[in-house]
Amino acid sequence: MEYFEGISTVIKRRRSIRKFNKQPVDMNMVKKIIDIASHAPSNNNRQGWKFYVTEDAKLKKAFYDLILKKLKDRNHQSKVVDNLMVDYEKHFVHFKNAPVVVVCCFVKPNRFQTKIFETDQENQHMTGELISLSLVIQNMLLLAESAGIGTLVMTSPLVIAQDIKQMLGIPEKNAIGAFVCMGHYDERPDPPRHYELEKILHIK
Ligand SMILES: Cc1cc2nc3c(=O)[nH]c(=O)nc-3n(C[C@H](O)[C@H](O)[C@H](O)COP(=O)(O)O)c2cc1C
Repeated sequence: MEYFEGISTVIKRRRSIRKFNKQPVDMNMVKKIIDIASHAPSNNNRQGWKFYVTEDAKLKKAFYDLILKKLKDRNHQSKVVDNLMVDYEKHFVHFKNAPVVVVCCFVKPNRFQTKIFETDQENQHMTGELISLSLVIQNMLLLAESAGIGTLVMTSPLVIAQDIKQMLGIPEKNAIGAFVCMGHYDERPDPPRHYELEKILHIK
């Protein structure tokens, strides 16, 4: 296992951080993290990813208000879901106190790419683009971890993806894949449950 030592330590040590302290994150560090992370492999080497970074507390508050409104206005179809949501709602808005939020987008496949096959391959292409973006995101998390910066990946704010795109001036052709919150923290959460290899590996 000695080959993996440095990288396996960082992979295993990384935790989702949901409580950040007030210490700002150096923007040069954020730029470096995104720059190095974007050496990830990509579908057809398209490197079809874009990153929109904000530290603007007013903007984050506006996202927060919109999400809470969206959750409040949603169709209440089941009491079970409503009860679950009482505790779950907070997981939509942890970004609010993160000093930096990176809105991670993938560039949607163009017409040629989606039409070269007989059947509609749009979804397949979308998957390739989203996986490519995800590889960059994991690199970002590991680089941040190794630099002592805490991160949280979030997809729940996607409930207001269209509003966020409009507010940040993100062009229609870019789809938001996820949000990466970054910041410094005082406490590291305990590791969550982790499945043993036997549960996930099938050698045929
Ligand atoms: C694609 C994706 C989306 C996630 N979205 C959220 C989210 O919206 N809110 C949240 O609090 N955590 C979110 N998480 C964090 C997971 O809950 C977390 O990774 C998981 O509980 C394991 O904990 P760990 O990251 O500390 O290992 C997300 C993680 C991933 C990979």
